[in-house]
Amino acid sequence: MTGKPLLDTVLGQRQARPPIWIMRQAGRYLPEYRQTRIKAKSFLELCYNPELAIEVSLQPLRRFDLDAAIMFSDILVIPDALGQKVRFEQGEGPILDPVDQTSIASLQPERALDHLAPVLETLKGLKAALAPEKTLIGFCGSPWTVATYMIGGRGSTDQAAARLFAVRYPEAFAQLMDILVQTSIDYLVAQFAAGADVVQLFESWALNLDDAAFDERVIEPNRRIVEGVRARVPNAPIIGFPRGAAGNLARYAAATGVNALGLDYATPLDFASKQLPKDLPVQGNLDPLRLVVGGAQMDARVDRIIDAFSDRPHIFNLGHGIVPETPIEHVAQLIDRVKNG
Ligand code: CP3
Repeated sequence: MTGKPLLDTVLGQRQARPPIWIMRQAGRYLPEYRQTRIKAKSFLELCYNPELAIEVSLQPLRRFDLDAAIMFSDILVIPDALGQKVRFEQGEGPILDPVDQTSIASLQPERALDHLAPVLETLKGLKAALAPEKTLIGFCGSPWTVATYMIGGRGSTDQAAARLFAVRYPEAFAQLMDILVQTSIDYLVAQFAAGADVVQLFESWALNLDDAAFDERVIEPNRRIVEGVRARVPNAPIIGFPRGAAGNLARYAAATGVNALGLDYATPLDFASKQLPKDLPVQGNLDPLRLVVGGAQMDARVDRIIDAFSDRPHIFNLGHGIVPETPIEHVAQLIDRVKNG
């Protein structure tokens, strides 16, 4: 018992009602986020400004009875810290100068942690500001997901550029994955030192992979990160979120050693409750678009999810990030339903 219900749940303790946080809970659906966002010259400057990043991390907790704060940053600060140019264009998402076989060697892992120091300052400030029962969540992108942006130069629906690269240039790809695994370990260890109670590995593109590729690009790098972090932070609490892992989910959970498993909204509840080990804590898995519409359909689905996981540790969350058009009243309705039935 840590006195933090969400952290306790990650550590395997079932609660009377599930604790809740919301992926992307600090973001554009909140008017106060949009207000703060314009004070920074760019999205990355917001990520690297501890004062503003602390402010936007706390905004959702001022409005709602959430059980955790997640530090405000992005998974793409890692390529930026490695020296790859990253920018966020309005309405376009992230744009990077793609890496190729030769430029991977000029990435600069030795400078990464210094570059990320402001994010660690954000965590320290949040630790000091949060009530003791709230859990502080740190995170990074998992290597494959980050590599899809580094190689493709932008988001894509099929990750074709990275999937081609991995098969065509296996040595360069392995070199890139090694850099990302090592940098992620150092970054997460530093996040725990700065006050994170738990960290989440965002593997947002765990889909579109055959099972050999899933083992090599998802399971093995995530397993190495869990092992590497725990070698320096014994028993470090870690949530894995392999979005789209589908039939690979149980293998992912067993092989990586994460404490808890994030479930996307396409994961069937029956499958999850029957096929995943009974003592494995799960997190998820409401479709964010049900939250946009709200009302009785949302309450019914919330009840169904809570019921499916009532016999195991469960953290309520969405199955992917909250979308900007979500009405704030629906978020309040969701949290009330989860907390009070
Ligand atoms: O959860 C939180 O509240 C903490 C902050 C957070 C952000 N991004 C802020 C953000 C976290 C945890 C992320 C993770 C992230 N970033 C992921 C993994 C989760 C997922 O959604 O799959 C990915 C793939 C990214 C990369 C990324 N960042 C994309 C594709 C985009 C553009 C799409 C979009 O939603 O605009 C971003 C930008 C981004 N990251 C915004 C926020 C609040 C919006 C940018 C803005 O405010 O101008």
